[in-house]
Amino acid sequence: MMMIAMLVLALLTTTSPQQTSPATPRDPHNGMFTTDLGVQCAHCHEGADWKTSSLPAFDVSARMEKMTNGLSEGTLSYAGGISCNTCHAGKPKPATLPASALQSVSDEWPDSAKVDPANADKPAREVYKNLKVLGDIKAGDMRRTMSEWTAALGTNCAQCHSGDEYESDNKPDKKASRTMMKLFDEMPAYFQGMAQPPTFTCYTCHQGVLTPMQ
Ligand code: HEC
Ligand code: HEC
Ligand code: HEC
Ligand code: HEC
Repeated sequence: MMMIAMLVLALLTTTSPQQTSPATPRDPHNGMFTTDLGVQCAHCHEGADWKTSSLPAFDVSARMEKMTNGLSEGTLSYAGGISCNTCHAGKPKPATLPASALQSVSDEWPDSAKVDPANADKPAREVYKNLKVLGDIKAGDMRRTMSEWTAALGTNCAQCHSGDEYESDNKPDKKASRTMMKLFDEMPAYFQGMAQPPTFTCYTCHQGVLTPMQ
């Protein structure tokens, strides 16, 4: 009985109107859009019509919301999904990978993973042994790609590879990364027709950690 009373109280508290002025309706986003992006209602809304807005942030947010829900119910449902905050972390635009973080990983690129300069322009699949998602990039770009992934997740090669047996699939996070690559086919679909669609990287969600914020 006590539990039920507390639950009802909690529900009443969270759904109570957040009136900032008489013209401001109750926030249908439950504070999520404002908190996760660190903005006010006026960032996306103008005038008295709350259902539409000519502000660019309104259109982008509607698309972002569809994407966030789509990924959360699809490819990322096994992980409990994501929110605006996963990428935005309280900011209007998500942070991007710091160049210095990328550089310090790239500087340590091991000799055992190097390609003969004569093969650098060949498709990676012709030079490396076991590529299922990166086969079409140039062999010479593997260093940048692996360094980006490593820096984006704030980890090291050993998280996904055993020593220099790079072709082996014995590490679970190597296989998880291939699943992650599916996201990059899915995300752009929500931004078709935009003059400058957002660009996504591993860092957009991971923000330098192995397990993104949810
Ligand atoms: C980051 C952009 C953004 C922010 C910030 C934002 N909204 Fe919205 N709002 C939208 C979008 C997009 C919609 C259209 C419906 C949807 O996609 O959720 C919407 C819809 C609405 C609606 C109409 C809901 C309906 O269909 O009846 C109301 C009312 C509203 N917002 C109020 C607010 C209030 C109040 C705040 C501030 C506390 C706020 N919004 C902050 C983007 C935003
Ligand atoms: C998978 C990561 C990701 C998620 C989740 C995400 N966003 Fe974004 N968002 C981005 C990226 C990337 C940009 C482009 C930023 C840039 O242009 O530098 C962006 C841009 C935006 C912008 C435009 C910013 C500007 O000033 O140009 C708005 C508004 C926005 N997002 C709202 C939302 C809302 C609301 C949600 C949750 C419903 C959300 N986003 C979820 C990655 C994400
Ligand atoms: C987050 C996981 C992850 C991290 C960290 C990572 N890799 Fe990889 N690596 C992969 C995946 C996944 C593949 C296979 C890609 C494919 O299937 O197309 C791969 C493939 C490779 C290959 C090609 C192997 C072959 O012959 O098929 C090399 C070489 C490689 N990685 C080197 C590195 C080095 C060096 C580092 C550290 C700087 C590193 N990787 C960090 C996930 C990772
Ligand atoms: C749209 C957001 C998003 C993008 C983009 C993304 N990830 Fe993830 N990733 C997640 C989420 C959410 C999880 C958490 C899974 C969990 O909680 O088990 C995750 C988990 C992982 C894990 C397992 C880590 C763990 O928790 O054990 C690896 C490895 C990984 N991602 C690699 C990558 C790589 C590599 C890229 C870029 C090629 C990438 N991710 C891009 C959202 C993303």
